[in-house]
Amino acid sequence: AGYVIGVDLGGTKILTVLANLQGEIIAKKRSATKSEQGAEKVIDRILTTIDQVLADSDLTIDEIEAIGVGAPGPLSVKEGIIHHAPNLGWKDLNLKQLLESELNIPVFIENDANTAALGSKWFGAGKDKQNMIYLTVSTGIGSGIIIDNKLYHGISDSAGEVGHMVLDPESDVRCRCGDYGCWEALASGTALGRLGQKAVSSSSYSLMEELVDSTDQIDGAVVTEAAAQGDKTAKKILNQVTNYLGIGIANLLNILNPELIVVGGGVSQAGDIVLEPVREIALKRAMETPAKEVEIVRTQLGDNIGAIGAVAKALTQLGILN
Ligand code: BGC
Ligand code: NA
Ligand code: ZN
Repeated sequence: AGYVIGVDLGGTKILTVLANLQGEIIAKKRSATKSEQGAEKVIDRILTTIDQVLADSDLTIDEIEAIGVGAPGPLSVKEGIIHHAPNLGWKDLNLKQLLESELNIPVFIENDANTAALGSKWFGAGKDKQNMIYLTVSTGIGSGIIIDNKLYHGISDSAGEVGHMVLDPESDVRCRCGDYGCWEALASGTALGRLGQKAVSSSSYSLMEELVDSTDQIDGAVVTEAAAQGDKTAKKILNQVTNYLGIGIANLLNILNPELIVVGGGVSQAGDIVLEPVREIALKRAMETPAKEVEIVRTQLGDNIGAIGAVAKALTQLGILN
């Protein structure tokens, strides 16, 4: 029996899992990304989590057949180069080579939302679905698109960069990609946090202040928590963001007519308070026929989805899944 490792490298956290060839998780380790400390430190932290899952399962690296890594941003799957990860501050980094030279086993890199789409397809809500989209709403917004049972890559492996579709051309909110008014600048977890901080520093009392020690700690989770507890300011922000999320999804429905959209990422973890309005707006704003048969659900795999997806990526490369 062999094993694989899946790494979910996000803007905020690294989650590494060790799994058997059936995709069952045996060990799991989490670390903060802290990308501001530079790529080398981030890679060190990835390597540390790998050592830890090996130690926890009494295995050595020789028993690992492959490692899958989900990483944000447009990247080249074959070369393993991350071209541009705005939320990590990386440009043209050969992550595959760096990890392979440390570990001496095959490493397969895939966009984070793409790996999560593979995870849903093989181990989650996407089983039996031929046309589906995985949408992550976290530090950024990204997607993995499955068409006729296959992950759609596009000519440069960067299909599905939906977070950078411009939803408000008048917006002066700058996205980390450099453009203005991108979907993720308006509706990601980062956007929620930014709007929460802005509201608290410019207006009267909000419950958001009580949930944190200082204003700069207000993030997406704080806003959704305050909204859930009935705070008016937080509810207003959440309405604005769910409106953008719904409109973006309506666009995806019109373009791709999927049977399923699985929503994951930090913001989706707030549950129905986010999902219900998003569903309603998406169905209202899309054309009737492309939206007729779609189901919009939250991932059942929680925040393990990215790492499970990275396991699915490794298993796909080994020819165990296909
Ligand atoms: C990146 C995507 C990624 C998404 C979620 C976006 O900023 O461009 O590639 O999937 O964030 O991490
Ligand atoms: Na993608
Ligand atoms: Zn952008």
